Amino acid sequence: MKTLSELLNNIRPDTMLGMMPDSVFNAARARGYDWGYTHYTWYHALARHFCPGHIFEIGVLEGLSLAAMLLGCYESKAIGWDIEGYVAGSNKDAARNLARCGVADRAFIDHVDSQKKDILPYADMIHIDGDHSFTGATHDLEMAFAARIPVILFDDMFNRSTQCAEAGEGFLRRHAASIVDSEILPTATGLLVIQCKHPA
Ligand SMILES: C[S@@+](CC[C@H](N)C(=O)[O-])C[C@H]1O[C@@H](n2cnc3c(N)ncnc32)[C@H](O)[C@@H]1O
Repeated sequence: MKTLSELLNNIRPDTMLGMMPDSVFNAARARGYDWGYTHYTWYHALARHFCPGHIFEIGVLEGLSLAAMLLGCYESKAIGWDIEGYVAGSNKDAARNLARCGVADRAFIDHVDSQKKDILPYADMIHIDGDHSFTGATHDLEMAFAARIPVILFDDMFNRSTQCAEAGEGFLRRHAASIVDSEILPTATGLLVIQCKHPA
């Protein structure tokens, strides 16, 4: 049986350029992140593969991962939360970038702190990329599990500190009985994809 990354590699484009205008990568590039063109191809392929009706994202920043996912499945709609903690006014930047990519009408971005929430709405797929502390990341993972979201994308397994990796590994251990598949995709930052099954 093929692994998820093998399946995704069959449908993954070489670059997001062409689907996303170069200008949307400017701000990330200015911060030294010059790997966006290929990094986001995994998000695009994930949405193409799972075709999630509803996508949720915690940590939108300039909307690059959200745009790549929405371009992967034209039936997807998305809600994103961000506290604009990295870049003041980034939610407006994200909305502008989503419009440049032609997907703004399918996304709603709100200034919400996930750490102040106890529950999430149901979604078919969630991308967790907000608070990168062990406690914060664990909180978001547990909310996603409690909301019975079947596909959890959890970023930064091999980026920043080891706190995300510890949070991800702890989640896999705690919920092993409910996890049907998990794999870390070789994105620039290490994206853990967890597929959960929840009893009916
Ligand atoms: C790494 S960036 C997200 C990058 C984006 N997902 C992408 O790949 O293009 C992290 C974002 O999470 C946001 N953030 C941090 N803590 C948060 C929280 N508690 N609730 C919501 N957003 C948060 C920050 O403001 C920042 O914009």
